[in-house]
Amino acid sequence: MNEDELKRSAAQAAIDYIKPRLDSKSIIGVGTGSTTNHFIDALADIRHLFDATVSSSDASSERLRGHGIQVLDLNAVGEVTFYVDGADEVDPQRALIKGGGGALTREKIVAASADEFVCIVDESKLVNILGQFPLPVEVIPMARGLAARALLALGGAPEWREGIITDNGNILLDVHELSITQPAELEMTINNIVGVVANGIFAAQAADVVFVAAPAGVRRL
Ligand code: 5RP
Repeated sequence: MNEDELKRSAAQAAIDYIKPRLDSKSIIGVGTGSTTNHFIDALADIRHLFDATVSSSDASSERLRGHGIQVLDLNAVGEVTFYVDGADEVDPQRALIKGGGGALTREKIVAASADEFVCIVDESKLVNILGQFPLPVEVIPMARGLAARALLALGGAPEWREGIITDNGNILLDVHELSITQPAELEMTINNIVGVVANGIFAAQAADVVFVAAPAGVRRL
């Protein structure tokens, strides 16, 4: 099984998990990335079982609409039953690094709005300690230097993702060389840097369920 097939089977596990609990009023939160794209494609087959979706990126919204799935503004909906999304790293406590695709802020907003966060990954994303994957931080453009210096002072090595502007009109700093032994604390500390919009540590918003795909099958974390 190659990586893409593993991603597809993790996505299918999420479909199997949510399907029995959907009804005509259900709103599903949808993440961003190649694993989530498999989820979106599989969601098309069960679109008669739920009401609509809310999306974490323009790219996912476009893919959902391409399948004839309704995408609503988050402010127009009440309860979001599930949020389903991939991750760049997953630790044993189900804390995550996300934002490799640059959609971390909207992902965090939709995850925070959902009753249950279902994360879908292939086994290469499992780590004991977060931080090998450079931590994405979304920053207001004029604060790029200020935020980078503050991240340096925290022991990281921030790198500007040049040429990339987020769906919110901001820039991204990818912070290397962090060993994130206290994810919840670091998430809060980075959020307090002036000019930071959000960072890719999902510890306050850890996944409730993680489906991990390996060649031997999908297991639940
Ligand atoms: C996007 C994300 C993605 O979930 C993360 O980058 C994983 O992507 P993929 O499923 O393509 O491996 O956080 O901002």
